[in-house]
Amino acid sequence: MIRAGEAIRDGVSPLVPGFTVEVLPEVDSTNTELMRRARAGRTEPVLLVAEHQTAGRGRLGRNWASAPGDSLTFSLGLMLAPAAWSGLSLAVGVALAETLHPRVRIKWPNDLWLDDRKLAGILIETASSTADANGPRYAVIGVGINVARPPADGLATPPAGLDEVMPQARARDVLVRLARPLVEAVKAFETFGFAPFQARFEARDALRDRAVALSDGTAGTAHGTTEAGGLLVHTAAGMVAVTSAEVSVRPARGE
Ligand code: BTN
Repeated sequence: MIRAGEAIRDGVSPLVPGFTVEVLPEVDSTNTELMRRARAGRTEPVLLVAEHQTAGRGRLGRNWASAPGDSLTFSLGLMLAPAAWSGLSLAVGVALAETLHPRVRIKWPNDLWLDDRKLAGILIETASSTADANGPRYAVIGVGINVARPPADGLATPPAGLDEVMPQARARDVLVRLARPLVEAVKAFETFGFAPFQARFEARDALRDRAVALSDGTAGTAHGTTEAGGLLVHTAAGMVAVTSAEVSVRPARGE
């Protein structure tokens, strides 16, 4: 991983001065570790990679389990000052999906899917370093990718693995390919927001024109996104834009 780290650093540091890559054999969670550092005043730009996470976290308080060697788990930490934050996970999803494989789709707001099964998840957290609520924040962009297909473990929908479409995939090589496009996307989002990613998202939208059910009870048909990255759902009461990060969405049963 050391050479890979150097290759990544050399590719990314022209975009982000001072950028480093750090690989830990084990940590509770790369997101937790970078948020801890940010609270202690350490907000330097870093790609923190874990060979094993003992307490990986997902969205909505879920956990993220991964077996060492079979998955890629990392967090990108850097100061960002976008005009608005909504849509960042979609921009990250676009960069990852486009780099990984033509068959990878993005499931609003933070999953990557392969054939309707979860391949990867994105968890974004931010920490403020100033009293200014609208000022720059330290963004921690956590990504977990199943490189080998994980065991189904009784799940109704078994997860997917990158090895299904890239039999030779190795975590390190995948990270080397992803790092620069990911940082480019995050920097572009900081300057231009979600709008330039909207068409690219729609080309990979896993839910487009499908019947969906939301955890807040909303049901309807997904129709892409707003310019700010909200999910457009055509319901019996008309078109609504779903923006809450607390809501989960899935294709409706029997759809
Ligand atoms: C989700 O599917 O809800 C998001 C999963 C995000 C998992 C990654 S693995 C690296 C980083 N560290 C964590 O604890 N979580 C993210």
